[in-house]
Amino acid sequence: MIIDTHAHYDDEQFDPDRDELLGSMAAGGIGLIVNAGSTLESWGKIKKLTEDYPFIYGAVGIHPDEVGGLTEEHMSEMERLLDLDKIAAVGEIGLDYYWDNESHDMQKKWFIRQLETARKKDMPVIIHSRDAAADTMDIMRKYAAGMRAVIHCYSYSVEMAEEYVKMGYYIGVGGVVTFKNSKKLKNVVKEIPLTSIVLETDCPYLAPEPFRGKRNSSLYLPYVAEKIAELKGVSKEEVIRQTEENSRKLYGL
Ligand code: NI
Repeated sequence: MIIDTHAHYDDEQFDPDRDELLGSMAAGGIGLIVNAGSTLESWGKIKKLTEDYPFIYGAVGIHPDEVGGLTEEHMSEMERLLDLDKIAAVGEIGLDYYWDNESHDMQKKWFIRQLETARKKDMPVIIHSRDAAADTMDIMRKYAAGMRAVIHCYSYSVEMAEEYVKMGYYIGVGGVVTFKNSKKLKNVVKEIPLTSIVLETDCPYLAPEPFRGKRNSSLYLPYVAEKIAELKGVSKEEVIRQTEENSRKLYGL
């Protein structure tokens, strides 16, 4: 089965047809979906999604763009949610120096604080990192050694991917790998072992070709698997089988 390791079905773009769309996943070969958290408001919606759909698991975390209002009480709330059976990870958390919504110090503080919560609860983490390669690596080395992690929507060099693989982390690959201008990510996929790759959509964003620019969904993951298969010279079925195994190890599913 295909596992989508990173989706946002709580997003309002799915409000008009969420139930119908999620009802079509099994027929599309999509077996499990992990819905990543982004804002405080997303947590309740994600909990509800995991209750309504047996094949949806959740993650709770605060995206680096949104950490401004966080308090220790929110960390306690996160801990309570992490005790639920279907909350499988902390995320997405990290650093985003592209949008630069919050100061770098504030982003680092809450990235580290959320990593500490994940470690305390023995949960894997979903890492968001944009234009912040060096600081992310530094914090992962210092605060996430030995933890299970996925570097979601990976956008950095082959060398850094190899470092993360050595640290035991997974690399999240989605629609971007099908884009014509994604030479860097294609090289990463070629160079790292298939045992370190997981499939993801980040839907509603980043739909693969030939749907680029449209609303994304897990139903398009076969296009991503196909591209990875082509780059690695293996069958699409092998990509789906191995990434399922990887995703299950990552999240303990
Ligand atoms: Ni995301």
